Amino acid sequence: MTSPLVTHFFDEPTNTFSYVVQDPDSKACAILDSVLDFDYAAGRTDVRSAEEIIAHVREHDLDVEWILETHVHADHLSAAPYLHERLGGKTGIGANITIVQDVFGKAFNAGTEFARDGSQFDALFKEGDTFTIGGLEGHVLHTPGHTPACLTYVIGDAAFVGDTLFMPDFGTARCDFPGGDARALYQSIQKVLALPPDTRLFMCHDYKAPQRDVFKHETTVAEQRAANIHVHDGVSEDDFVRMRTERDATLAMPKLIIPSVQVNMRGGDMPPAEDNGQVYLKVPVNKL
Ligand SMILES: [Fe+2]
Repeated sequence: MTSPLVTHFFDEPTNTFSYVVQDPDSKACAILDSVLDFDYAAGRTDVRSAEEIIAHVREHDLDVEWILETHVHADHLSAAPYLHERLGGKTGIGANITIVQDVFGKAFNAGTEFARDGSQFDALFKEGDTFTIGGLEGHVLHTPGHTPACLTYVIGDAAFVGDTLFMPDFGTARCDFPGGDARALYQSIQKVLALPPDTRLFMCHDYKAPQRDVFKHETTVAEQRAANIHVHDGVSEDDFVRMRTERDATLAMPKLIIPSVQVNMRGGDMPPAEDNGQVYLKVPVNKL
């Protein structure tokens, strides 16, 4: 089994890991789950996080073949358009993005200019779809639950799990966003945990955990099955759903959910400028 070279980048304000995944036998790579920095109070974007990835790509003379998202993130804005403009590469996300676009297109009353067919992306992946990064083979697991469009990308001996599993001592992703489903998440997690035990699992987020004061981004299937506090071997679907539902009821909305979903449903592009030439993001009052 090929072992891709994986470099991680951490955005502490949103607790997000982005990755550059490289074919060990060529200069081909993919970028996963990039971050566009956003100061919500000022309404100002910044490309500091994206520039760290660009610097890595240039330093190693890499050829970006893919810019991938595991899902429509609700806690950070994607830098995919900025990275695409500077580095090239095809963009990809789950085919069920259309469901997410429909829900949030309505929630934000987007105009007819907003296509809800996923056409903002070059590739819309379904369960079992395959792709290549140089000589590396990747395949897609549809892993809904956190959102209907969530994917896990399995690339050689590595899997990028998005918001399904977190580190074993933190547990699993929430399922209370529009289209979320705790029962679906349990089933999705079983798919991930059925991968070979030594599969390297790369997290999309980490929030530390009680008794741990460093951020971690990597674990294995075997470690999750032995120790994940929410879904270790032996936890039933009903027990998981009860725990997840109770816990979700206590969670606050992510700070950047309102700007994030408006931008990420468009593949990371801002809404069109209004007739004064200015771009605005909306806040739906008493809606989410
Ligand atoms: Fe998420």
